[in-house]
Amino acid sequence: MTDKHSERSLTQARVFITGCGGMLGNYTYPFAKQICRTVLATDKNLTEPWLEHLDVRDYAKLSQIFKEIKPTLVLHLAAETDCEVCEADPYLSWEVNVRATREIALLCRNYSAIMVFISTAAVFPGEQKAPFTETDRPSPTMSYGFHKLEAEHHVRSISDKHYIFRAGWMMGAGPKKDKKYTAKILRQIIEDRPVIYAVTDKQGIPGYTKDFARNMLAMAETENYGTYHMVCSGGVGTRYDVAKEILMVCGRTDIELREVDSSFFDKEYFAPRPSSEAMVNVNLNKIGMNLQRRWQDVLREYIPAEWPHAIGQAQST
Ligand SMILES: NC(=O)c1ccc[n+]([C@@H]2O[C@H](COP(=O)([O-])OP(=O)(O)OC[C@H]3O[C@@H](n4cnc5c(N)ncnc54)[C@H](OP(=O)(O)O)[C@@H]3O)[C@@H](O)[C@H]2O)c1
Repeated sequence: MTDKHSERSLTQARVFITGCGGMLGNYTYPFAKQICRTVLATDKNLTEPWLEHLDVRDYAKLSQIFKEIKPTLVLHLAAETDCEVCEADPYLSWEVNVRATREIALLCRNYSAIMVFISTAAVFPGEQKAPFTETDRPSPTMSYGFHKLEAEHHVRSISDKHYIFRAGWMMGAGPKKDKKYTAKILRQIIEDRPVIYAVTDKQGIPGYTKDFARNMLAMAETENYGTYHMVCSGGVGTRYDVAKEILMVCGRTDIELREVDSSFFDKEYFAPRPSSEAMVNVNLNKIGMNLQRRWQDVLREYIPAEWPHAIGQAQST
């Protein structure tokens, strides 16, 4: 956050963050804390000393927080992000991803707070080959995507002052918190698996929660409310391409990367993911606020910084 204007206008903000113990919250909290007047960071699990307890399904507590701190900016990061959990338990997914978001949007409207909601590339159907823009028509294929899209509708219709940022395949926050694809590949590398399997029939664009947090906060005060795609540059890749780049960064030429299609992981990843989750940041580009780096460069920063033990050849026994 080097922009002088950003620092000036966020300094007076009273910020309330939900789901701040996760991959995105991990960087959002320190950035917000550096700049903003007050920051209340919450999550349902207290994994950090700076977190306060809040399950976003507790509406009485949500109301109490709004009453007490009268937030001017709400960063609603809490979500059930596991696509298989959402598929197996759609009611849980709906309660966390839709109902709580609607409740927070209503409170934001009542208190004139700016609302930031994080959505996903999984709102798109995935058949199209070119990356999705903000004007492409969403049509999700699985519970997680359906519920994120339903939540987007609530945020748009309830809260005038809102930002919806759609994220891609994010990485971030290191071994303790990263539960997504990059972490899954890195864990197999650390375990010295001789072969790693990666699919070639799913494409997307990685994102880095550190850059996402910076970009989100920089946007939060522009008053350019609306819907934005927020993924790295560096081009569209398949899961296989991303795994190949990770292996390269780790210098693990001894591990074989084998191409498979999604049917290989049918049992483990049974949620019907779209074949393409690739997006392009048209709206951020239009206003000169696209702060996203190339995903290949981001991997070269993220892995040595957070996963140094994944780098280097396997120890010979
Ligand atoms: N990571 C990605 O690739 C990705 C892609 C697209 C969109 N997004 C969106 O980005 C936002 C931030 O996600 P993230 O990447 O930081 O994922 P994350 O690490 O799963 O963070 C979400 C946080 O919300 C918490 N949470 C879940 N249910 C809650 C509840 N009922 N009340 C309060 N907190 C709850 C989670 O706790 P537990 O970990 O204990 O469940 C977790 O700490 C989410 O809205 C997500 O949908 C993420």
